[in-house]
Amino acid sequence: MDKLYITGPATLKGSVAISRSKNSYLPIMAACLLNPNPVHLKNLPELRDIRTMLNLLKKLGVQVEKKGNITTLNAANITSTTATYDLVKTMRASVLVLGPLLARFNKADVSLPGGCAIGERPIDIHLKNLTKLGANINLQGGYVEATCSKLTGSHLVLTFPSVGATENLMMAATLSLGKTVIENAALEPEIADLAHFLTLMGAKIEGIGTSKITIFGLSKISDFCEVEYEAIADRIEASTYLIAALITNSQVLIEKFNPTHIDAVIGVLKDMGANFEIGPDFIKVNKSKLSRAKIDTSPYPGFPTDVQAQLMALLAVSEGSSRISEHIFENRFMHVPELKRLGCQIELKGRSAFIEGGSKLMAAPVMCTDLRASAALVLAALSAQGTTQIGRVYHLDRGYEKLDQKLRQLGVEIQRVNE
Ligand code: UD1
Repeated sequence: MDKLYITGPATLKGSVAISRSKNSYLPIMAACLLNPNPVHLKNLPELRDIRTMLNLLKKLGVQVEKKGNITTLNAANITSTTATYDLVKTMRASVLVLGPLLARFNKADVSLPGGCAIGERPIDIHLKNLTKLGANINLQGGYVEATCSKLTGSHLVLTFPSVGATENLMMAATLSLGKTVIENAALEPEIADLAHFLTLMGAKIEGIGTSKITIFGLSKISDFCEVEYEAIADRIEASTYLIAALITNSQVLIEKFNPTHIDAVIGVLKDMGANFEIGPDFIKVNKSKLSRAKIDTSPYPGFPTDVQAQLMALLAVSEGSSRISEHIFENRFMHVPELKRLGCQIELKGRSAFIEGGSKLMAAPVMCTDLRASAALVLAALSAQGTTQIGRVYHLDRGYEKLDQKLRQLGVEIQRVNE
């Protein structure tokens, strides 16, 4: 298993280009199941989650071919409509194949994702609303067994703006009879990205980027066409590198992403004292003296739960007392004991973490517990005195493309060792 060794305190310099968003590409790849024509995806990030989705699609019969920076998915000859436990258990987003499979083949068996490190994460909103579109759903032997004669448009009001449910329902509605309205839809930029992709393939969607999305269903798969698409940049990766620059008090150019996608993160960091120059597709971070913050995570456009752990590492070395309250997932503080091993002063009370700032961090062996928690450990290690050993790096590899390479290019002393 790989380990990372990071020597700090680091000073970063130069620029880093942000990769394409995995959270955009996962639903986009699932949406390829709707289309019998080839779909060409540009700059798919090389990540474990993307490989898992490619393996799942291959198991269903999708032909995958890579030439240069284009990955072509061809779902002309689907041979199975079952997403098996062995793949779904490793990545919850596998459940995104449910909507497209059901819409195209009137049948899908998808293993229930089960719990995961950061919380229970049910899929009741997906299932309840697919039922409203005409699906019959049975939960049997750990699987969702879904069938329908043909999905039919409906008026859906989500009880919570779930990202995955909005995506699954939007894909299903794209190939169903009549009109579907999704109210209280998630507003995350990845939803609009998926909608743009579906539209390019031939879907008819109104209200893109709003909480009320209207989809005029296509009646047959021949209405879809061959397309080439490139997803938006990864806003969580961009936020992580912003924090990397700040935690090391460095000057860094973070480029090839859309800063408006991280307005909430920029707002918090600026209030803390961050000195940014913001352009249309870059942010230049200047040396900054930072103070405390009080944060509540919430659905987009609020402060993202996916940046909470990274911000906590930064608050631990900034001046003053801070608080972070987590409102999206019930168990997303697993980084706290590991950050404490590096010298962070954090106290947990229910869904809130209270952080005493101004700590001088010291290197220690630590362990990754989930994707974003791992990023927080890397950030803390950049600031800590000495060489920090980070274990279970496979969590990081799910979502950060070439992390060690990118940090090395910024001047960090970082090594990946297979031990
Ligand atoms: C997506 C992101 C993930 C991010 C999360 C919240 C992907 C691949 N993953 O996950 O990185 O942290 O959005 O921004 O895009 N819920 C239910 N019932 C449901 C669905 C969700 O109770 O049917 C709950 C979940 O347990 C969780 C909350 O709603 O507590 C948010 O989940 P959701 O928005 O669906 O997140 P994901 O799509 O799983």
